[in-house]
Amino acid sequence: MRKQVLDTSSTLIKDLIKTLASSRVAMAGSVISGVVLPVLVISAILDMKGGAENPYFGFLIYMVMGPIFMAGLATAVIGVLFFKDKEAIGLFTLEYIKDQLSMPGRFTRVRKLIYLSSFLMALTTLVVLVVSVSGYKYTETVSFCGQFCHVVMEPEYITHQNSPHSRVSCVECHIDENAGLFTKAKVSGIKQIFSTLFNSFDRPLKTPIKSLRPNRNVCEKCHRPEMFHGAKLYLKDSYLPDEKNTVVRTVLLMKVGSGGYRTGAAQGIHWHVSPNHHVYFQSSDDGDSITKVKLIDHDGSEIIFSSTGDYTSPKGPASEDFRLMDCLDCHNRPTHIFLAPEEAIDQKMIEGLISSELPFIKRQAVEALRLEYSSQTEALKAIAVRIESWYRDNEPRVYQLQWEQLSRAIAGIGRAYSENVFPEMNVDWGTYGSTLGHRQGGGCFRCHEGNHRTEAGRVIPNGCDLCHVVLADHEKDPAIMNLLYGDKGVK
Ligand code: HEC
Ligand code: HEC
Ligand code: HEC
Ligand code: HEC
Ligand code: HEC
Repeated sequence: MRKQVLDTSSTLIKDLIKTLASSRVAMAGSVISGVVLPVLVISAILDMKGGAENPYFGFLIYMVMGPIFMAGLATAVIGVLFFKDKEAIGLFTLEYIKDQLSMPGRFTRVRKLIYLSSFLMALTTLVVLVVSVSGYKYTETVSFCGQFCHVVMEPEYITHQNSPHSRVSCVECHIDENAGLFTKAKVSGIKQIFSTLFNSFDRPLKTPIKSLRPNRNVCEKCHRPEMFHGAKLYLKDSYLPDEKNTVVRTVLLMKVGSGGYRTGAAQGIHWHVSPNHHVYFQSSDDGDSITKVKLIDHDGSEIIFSSTGDYTSPKGPASEDFRLMDCLDCHNRPTHIFLAPEEAIDQKMIEGLISSELPFIKRQAVEALRLEYSSQTEALKAIAVRIESWYRDNEPRVYQLQWEQLSRAIAGIGRAYSENVFPEMNVDWGTYGSTLGHRQGGGCFRCHEGNHRTEAGRVIPNGCDLCHVVLADHEKDPAIMNLLYGDKGVK
C-alpha cells in the first residue's frame, strides 16, 4: 500500500517535472525559484526571530530574494502556458485532461495531481504573501530609511536618533497618509527615498526637499497647538570658555501661547497656526528673506506687511513662493537637530561625559571641533591628539592626575563632533540652521525684525518681551534662580 502511494506521488512529481521540462522558459523559472526558496525561508525565519539586525540583510531578503523568487514562479507559469517546446506532453492542455478523466484507472491519479498542485499553490501563495507583507513593512523601518543609504542619510539618521522624536519612525513624518490613496502615498514614499538617493544626491542634500517635507497634519497627529495654553519656563545652562568652565544660566519665560481652543482666543507664539486666521508669506528669489506677509484676520480683513514698500496683494491660492505659514516654518528641525559647537560641548558637559573639573576644557574642545577634517575617522584621531598634547604641554598636572577624566572627555568631544558634522556629506557646523529663534537675524526675525510694516505704518512687533520674558541671559548666579529654588540651593 505504502509503496503504491510512493509510486503515485513519484509519477505525479515526474509528470510535473515533465510538464515544466516541456518548456525551457518554465524550467529556468522553476530552477530559480527552487534555489531561492530554501534560502528565503531560512532567512525569513532568522529575521522574524530578530537574529538579524543588519539593514542590508533585510534588504537582501525582502527586496532582492523575494522578488527573484516571485519572478521565477511567474516565469515558470508563463513558460508552461506560452512557451512550449516541440515535445510538450501537455499536462495543461484540454485534450490531455479529457483523456485522463475519461480513463477510469487514471481518474484517481488526476485527482491526486489536483490535490498536489492545490497544496503547492497554497504554499506558494503563503510564501508570496509573507514576503510581500514583510517587504512592505521593512521599507517602513527606521533601519531601512536611515541605514540602507548609509552615507546619504547618515546626518538625518544620527540626528534623529538623538532627538526627542527618536521613537517616531521616518515614515510617520515623511509619508503623508492623507495624500490621496493609502497605496499611492506608500509607493511615493518608497519612491521618495530612492529619488533622494539617485536624483537629489547633492552633498549636502539641498534643503528643503519638497517631497520629504512633512505638512502640518503630520505634526497634528500627535501635537495640537490649539490645546496649548500659557507660558513655559525655559532653563538652559552653558559653560564659559574660561579656566573654570564657569556655569552660566539662561532663563526665559517662553510665551508658547495657544492656537485658540473653543472659547479661548489664540495668543502668543502659536497664534500663527490658529484656525481663525491665516498668515501667508512671500520670500525673496533666493528664498532667504521674507519680503511680504499677508494676514487674513478672523473677520476676513486682509493686512499686508512689506519690507520693500510694495503693498500689492499677492493673488491666488497658496503656493511654494506664497506659503501658508505652518509648523515647519518655525520648527524646521524638530528632529534633525544640528547643534553649534558650543551647544554640542555644553550638552556633553551637562551629561557628565566631559568633566567641568578639567581646566579650559570648554575652550579647548570648541577650538578642536571648529577645525576642518576630511572624515569622521580622521577627526576623531586628530581631536584626540590635539587635546592630549595641549594638556601634556600646558597642564602637565592635569595630564598626569586626571588622565581618566581627560580620556573620557576626549571621547565626549569626539561624540559631539560625530553627532553633528558629516564631512562625507559636506555637512558642517551651520549647514542646516534652525528657524526657531533668532540666531544671526534669521528665524523669527525674518518677519519680526521691525522692518515689515503696513502702508499705514503698523509694524510686525519686535519687542524683546513679545515672545519671551528674558529672566537671565547667560548669567552667573542670576537672582531668578534663587527666587525659583529658594534656600534649597540652586541645582
Ligand atoms: C518628527 C518628524 C520627523 C521624523 C521622525 C523624521 N524626519 Fe526627516 N525631516 C523632518 C522635517 C521637519 C524636515 C525638514 C523639512 C524642511 O525643512 O523642509 C526633515 C528633513 C529630512 C531630510 C532632508 C534633509 C534635511 O535635513 O532637511 C531627510 C533626508 C530626512 N528628513 C530623512 C529622515 C530619515 C532618514 C528619518 C528617520 C531616520 C527621518 N527623516 C525622520 C521631520 C522628521
Ligand atoms: C508620532 C507622534 C509625533 C509626531 C508625528 C510628531 N511628534 Fe513632536 N513629539 C512627540 C513626542 C512624544 C514628544 C515628546 C518627546 C519627549 O519629551 O521626549 C514630541 C516633542 C516635540 C517638541 C518638543 C521638543 C523638545 O525639545 O522638548 C516639538 C517642538 C515637537 N515635538 C514638534 C513636532 C513637529 C513640528 C512635528 C511635525 C513635523 C512633530 N513634532 C511630529 C511626538 C510626535
Ligand atoms: C511662529 C512659530 C511657530 C509656529 C508656526 C509653530 N510653533 Fe510650536 N513652538 C514655537 C516656539 C518658539 C516654541 C517654544 C520653544 C521651543 O520649544 O524650543 C514652540 C513649542 C512647541 C512645542 C513644545 C510645547 C511645549 O509645551 O513643550 C510643540 C509640541 C510645538 N511647538 C508644536 C507645534 C506644532 C504642531 C505646530 C503647527 C501646528 C507649531 N508648533 C507651530 C514656534 C512655533
Ligand atoms: C512669516 C512671518 C512671520 C514669522 C517667520 C514669524 N512671525 Fe510672529 N507674527 C507675524 C505676524 C504677521 C504677526 C501679527 C502682527 C500684528 O498683528 O500686527 C505675528 C505675531 C506674533 C506674536 C504676537 C501674537 C499675539 O498674541 O497677537 C508672537 C508672540 C509672535 N509673532 C512670535 C513669533 C515667533 C516666536 C516666531 C519665530 C519662532 C515668529 N513669530 C515668526 C509674522 C511672523
Ligand atoms: C518674535 C519672537 C522673538 C522676539 C521678538 C525676540 N526673541 Fe529672543 N528668542 C525667541 C525664541 C523663539 C527663542 C528660543 C530659541 C530656541 O529655543 O532655540 C529665543 C531665544 C532668546 C535667547 C536665548 C538664546 C540662547 O542662548 O538660547 C535670548 C537671550 C533672547 N532670545 C533674547 C532676546 C532679546 C534681547 C530680544 C529683543 C531684542 C529678543 N530675544 C526678541 C523669540 C524672540
